[in-house]
Amino acid sequence: MPGLEGPSDYSKEPPRHPCLQINAKEPFNAEPPRSLLVSSYVTPVDLFYKRNHGPIPIVDDLERYCFSISGLIKNPKKLFMKDIWMLPKYNVAATLQCAGNRRTAMSKTRKVKGVGWDVSALGNAVWGGAKLADVLELVGIPNLTSTTQSGGKHVEFVSIDKCKEENGGPYKASIPLSQATNPDADVLLAYEMNGETLNRDHGYPLRVVVPGIIGARSVKWIDSINIIAEECQGFFMQKDYKMFPPTVDWDNINWASRRPQMDFPVQSVICSLEDVNAIKPGKVKISGYAVSGGGRGIERVDVSIDGGKTWMEASRYQKTGIPYVADGINSDKWAWVLFEVTVDVMQSTEIVAKAVDIASNVQPEKVEDIWNLRGILNTSWHRVQVRVGHSNM
Ligand code: MTE
Repeated sequence: MPGLEGPSDYSKEPPRHPCLQINAKEPFNAEPPRSLLVSSYVTPVDLFYKRNHGPIPIVDDLERYCFSISGLIKNPKKLFMKDIWMLPKYNVAATLQCAGNRRTAMSKTRKVKGVGWDVSALGNAVWGGAKLADVLELVGIPNLTSTTQSGGKHVEFVSIDKCKEENGGPYKASIPLSQATNPDADVLLAYEMNGETLNRDHGYPLRVVVPGIIGARSVKWIDSINIIAEECQGFFMQKDYKMFPPTVDWDNINWASRRPQMDFPVQSVICSLEDVNAIKPGKVKISGYAVSGGGRGIERVDVSIDGGKTWMEASRYQKTGIPYVADGINSDKWAWVLFEVTVDVMQSTEIVAKAVDIASNVQPEKVEDIWNLRGILNTSWHRVQVRVGHSNM
C-alpha cells in the first residue's frame, strides 16, 4: 500500500530505551526489568515490551497511507487515516501479553524453541482508536455478524513487515468475525497508545488490539484486512502459537491437530524480587501483576512464604482511589491488576504467587505439567528464592 513500507534490513530501526533487556537484536525483541514493570498501572510506552518478527516498517507519507478491506463482502473499500479518525474514538485499557512470556523458565525444565523471555513480555496500555466493529460497518457488515452473506467467518489482518517465518512475507493473523463485530469485545484499530500517537515499534500508523487474547493476534502496521471463510493460514496461526501436550515433540508434532491459541489463561508474577535474592531477616514487600484472558477479572492473588504450604491473600489494585472489584463496572476488565503484600521473612525460603480468576481458574502448580515444545503460556506458580543472611549484607 502507498505511504507505508516494510524494509528488508535493520538499518532504520527506531531508538529504544537503554534499560530494556534485549532478548534478540534483529528482529528486535526486548522487555523491561521486572522491578520497573509494576511501578505503574499503565506501562510507559518506552518500557512496554517489544515483540517483532522483522524490521520495523516506515511511514513515508501518512496522507497517502491507506489499507483495503476486501474478501467475502459485497463492497470492498480502501480506507485512509482520515476515515478512521472520523469514527468515534474509544480508549481501552488492555494488557497485551506475549504467549512466550516466562519461556526462559519453561526451558529450564526441558529445552523449548523460541526467543527467551523473562516475566515482562507484557504491558498494560490505554489504547486509543476506532472500534473494529464500527470500521466493518463502513463496508456493510452489521454489528454482531458471525457469517457474511458470502460466507465470511473470520477477519484476517495483514501487515507490511517482512518476516523470515513467512519467507519474507508479512505477519498476519485472524480473529472470528463474531468477535470483530461485537462492540463489547472492544477490538480496536488503534492509532494511540497512552494518549500519544502510536510509535513505530508498536504499530504506527495503525494496529489491531484484541483485548483478552495472546498478543500474537494484535497485528501491527495494518496493510489490509480480509474477510475470509476459514481462519488465516499464515505461519503464526498454523505453525506457531499453538498449545501442545508435554508428550508432543519435534519428531511427532502434527500442527493441524490443534487450534491456534486465542485466550490466555490466568497468570501472576512476583516482580519485586528476582529469581534469587539475598535479604536481611524482617519485613519484605512482595508485589507483582496478575491477569487473565477473555476479560475475566482477578478474584484473588495468593502468596506463600513457605514454598506453597500455607498462603495469605495479597491486596489487588488498578487505579488509585478506586477499590478493585473483579467484575466491577469501574474496573478495567481487559487490564491486569497489581498486587501487594508485606510479609515477615526470617529464614531462607521460597516465595510463591498464584492467582485465581472470576471463573475460578487457577494457575497450574508445576511447569512440567504444561511444558510444550514452543514454550508458550508458562503460567505455572511463580516462585522466587530468598536467602536470608544475618550479617554483612
Ligand atoms: N504484528 C506484526 N505485524 N509483526 C509482528 O512481529 N508480533 C505480534 C503482535 N503483532 C507482531 C505483530 C506479537 S507475537 C506480539 S506479542 C505483539 O504484537 C507485541 O506487540 P508490541 O511489540 O506492541 O508489544
